[in-house]
Amino acid sequence: MPARTACVARTMSTLGIIGAGNIGSNVAKAAIAAGHDVVIANSRGPETLGDLIVELGQEHARAATIDEAAAAGDIVLVAIPLSAIETLPQAPLVGKIVLDANNYYPGRDGRIAALDTNMSTTSGLLQKHLPESHVVKAFNHINAKDIPRDATPFGTPTRRALAIFGQDGQAKEVAAAFLDDLGYDAVDLGTLDESWRLERDTPGYGKPMTAAELREISANTERVQQQ
Ligand SMILES: NC(=O)c1ccc[n+]([C@@H]2O[C@H](COP(=O)([O-])OP(=O)(O)OC[C@H]3O[C@@H](n4cnc5c(N)ncnc54)[C@H](OP(=O)(O)O)[C@@H]3O)[C@@H](O)[C@H]2O)c1
Repeated sequence: MPARTACVARTMSTLGIIGAGNIGSNVAKAAIAAGHDVVIANSRGPETLGDLIVELGQEHARAATIDEAAAAGDIVLVAIPLSAIETLPQAPLVGKIVLDANNYYPGRDGRIAALDTNMSTTSGLLQKHLPESHVVKAFNHINAKDIPRDATPFGTPTRRALAIFGQDGQAKEVAAAFLDDLGYDAVDLGTLDESWRLERDTPGYGKPMTAAELREISANTERVQQQ
């Protein structure tokens, strides 16, 4: 059984979420189920999120502007298309832990030379845009709908594991505790430079894995040229 991670996130109360689509809404559900509040934003404005807030429950969910969601979150999840990350505001995210669920789909995002040449990773691009934030890659290799469904308590023998990557050890500890709260074993697989190991089309992408399986599959993954 993996060691239980630091419990910093257990005192966390609010998750800011930028992007209210598949990933944003499903992480919101899992976070609320775990006892957190969420403040969530999309590109069109809080007035367009009424149905989602009703679905999530008004007691623990609030719609906001992007700046408000960024400012409100003790941790902030970025769940928007990769092509939009440069529109994210920097000031309200300074010093914050920013969870990045991004993946690169050239058909959706356009071709990005730094990714096509393996000079960066998707989260490396976000960290470059948010130099004063602590970006932690998380939730990118799980199907959004699985997030509330596959959550299990700490200690469940087949508990699903999710990778985290980041430059800052303390930020990763907080992110790991948050994932644990939501029902997942977090496996720290290194810096953002290593996060290609679970990017699109790798063997572990979308595959339910325990912590041991995740470590083994990611260690045996070879970096290929983006298609
Ligand atoms: N879907 C999955 O199962 C899954 C799994 C893992 C990772 N991911 C990755 O997570 C990211 C989000 O995917 P998704 O499937 O959740 O996308 P999605 O369902 O299309 O939702 C995207 C959300 O981002 C918002 N948005 C777009 N541009 C924005 C901007 N400039 N500022 C603020 N919000 C903006 C959209 O707002 P509007 O509604 O107003 O347009 C929408 O709420 C992608 O990189 C994807 O590859 C997805």
